[in-house]
Amino acid sequence: MRSSEQQSGVCVSPRLNVAGADVSPREKMPHQRPRKLPVVVFASPSPGGEGRGEGEPYLNSYFQNRRLISSTRHSEPPPSKIGFLLRLTLILLVNSNLIRAETKAPDNHSKPIPIAKIKRSTAVDFERDVLPILKKNCLACHNKTTAKARLILETPEDILKGGDSGPAATPRQSRSSLLLKAASHRLEDTIMPPPANKVQASDLNPEELGLVSLWIDQGAKASLTVVRPIEWQPLPDALNPIYAVALTPDGQFAACARANQIFLYHLPSRQLVGRLTDPQLINSGLYARPGVAHRSIIHALAFSPDGNLLASGAHREVKIWRRPQDLRKYSLASVARKAVTALAVSSDGKSLATGDDDGRIQIWNLATGRLARRLPGCHGAVHSLKFSADNSRLVVAEMDGACLADYDIAADGGLNLRGRLGSMKSPDGICLDREGATWVASFEEDAFIRVSRDGDELHRIDVPGRRAIACVLGGEERRTLFCLSAATSHEELRQRKSSARIDVVEVEVAGAGNP
Ligand code: HEC
Repeated sequence: MRSSEQQSGVCVSPRLNVAGADVSPREKMPHQRPRKLPVVVFASPSPGGEGRGEGEPYLNSYFQNRRLISSTRHSEPPPSKIGFLLRLTLILLVNSNLIRAETKAPDNHSKPIPIAKIKRSTAVDFERDVLPILKKNCLACHNKTTAKARLILETPEDILKGGDSGPAATPRQSRSSLLLKAASHRLEDTIMPPPANKVQASDLNPEELGLVSLWIDQGAKASLTVVRPIEWQPLPDALNPIYAVALTPDGQFAACARANQIFLYHLPSRQLVGRLTDPQLINSGLYARPGVAHRSIIHALAFSPDGNLLASGAHREVKIWRRPQDLRKYSLASVARKAVTALAVSSDGKSLATGDDDGRIQIWNLATGRLARRLPGCHGAVHSLKFSADNSRLVVAEMDGACLADYDIAADGGLNLRGRLGSMKSPDGICLDREGATWVASFEEDAFIRVSRDGDELHRIDVPGRRAIACVLGGEERRTLFCLSAATSHEELRQRKSSARIDVVEVEVAGAGNP
């Protein structure tokens, strides 16, 4: 819990400099009535439910006097009288361009790969031990959307069911199981993955084959889902980094997330409108004072184009805050196993993209709250994602990937990886401009870098000695680049040493899409 001083404390330390003017930390009302930004919703109900298409929704509710009237604790199941069951169809989406691949074994087909004998006293767990191997080398061609030979290898159930030639595995009979035979190159005509494939799938090594084999011999069982309650710890008082900022498209309001709080500013009057409160956190007795939005650090914020919805992403949950009128109820279930680290709303307001710590990207239909698309893999945590103005493109900053992933969005909503762009260390926040270029805050290069759609570096704004965290194009003509940086390190954050700054730079090419 935070001290009362911090409760009333504000903005970027020590002062938020917006367009050259200070926003003072006084909690004063703007001339205009404050927007009542309300909330709703939903979280992953339990770690076990992840990715399996079913989730309990959460009570949604709204704000009055800048307060959320009610909401629900995401660590517990929602009350059933207000809960309704939302079924989500999960579609594993794979780039269709990636799937054209050679399937014929070459004449000089390889020798069988030895299968290592794995000795272990514990059971092989499908999700933990086997799935990652299949994900890397098989799933691109054997998933729900693209199932070569009508074989899906995503779950034990799918594997036992098998494809055109029948079950891919028979429990306790690894040596006669098709999956193992194909993957260890013991079949002349089905060598998996196909040699010279275009999805970077490699042959399984003897240890991997050994694990898969042992899993089959132990019965080819599904993972036990263990529901572990989250053990919450209080946030340290010193931990106040701003990891997320969002502007309403009309330029009227800015939201910034500091630790587990969301501050709303009215930009024309440069006043703090207030902080968003999830009353559930007060009612539960966890917090004595209003002003707390989540229990954990908020990593991502995004406004809808009409400014009516604000999405905030924290540990395993996304909350949607909205104005009281036009209430609709839905929840996004099973958003992520860990933290939801990035959010973006498409320019037409129809889709929400979420990115998480596991590097997974999901597209949600905002009207229904249903999962529309899901991409399994990227290099490390997703730190930022943005739709282009015409919603034909999604750009993703992958923290560990040292580049941007550039997806084309097809007419049916499918995402095809067009390529990976540029090279920069730890890309963090990004924004797009009208020429299709991307501004990237590079955390480890202490610079804001503009990268063309071909991956060339076009401009660089250095902030020596400061970590570049986020950037957004705003202002009247959207030619003002707001660059958020912090003089800090992870270690210094723990020692209460951090000072954030927003540099304001006029640029030539205006911003595009939903900021
Ligand atoms: C690049 C795409 C691709 C990848 C990657 C791939 N496969 Fe296949 N797989 C195919 C195609 C195409 C077929 C059908 C061709 C054939 O029958 O020869 C197939 C057929 C199979 C079959 C036969 C299914 C049946 O019922 O006839 C098995 C088993 C199989 N794959 C297992 C695997 C495993 C295990 C991996 C990973 C180690 C893998 N595949 C990776 C494309 C792929």
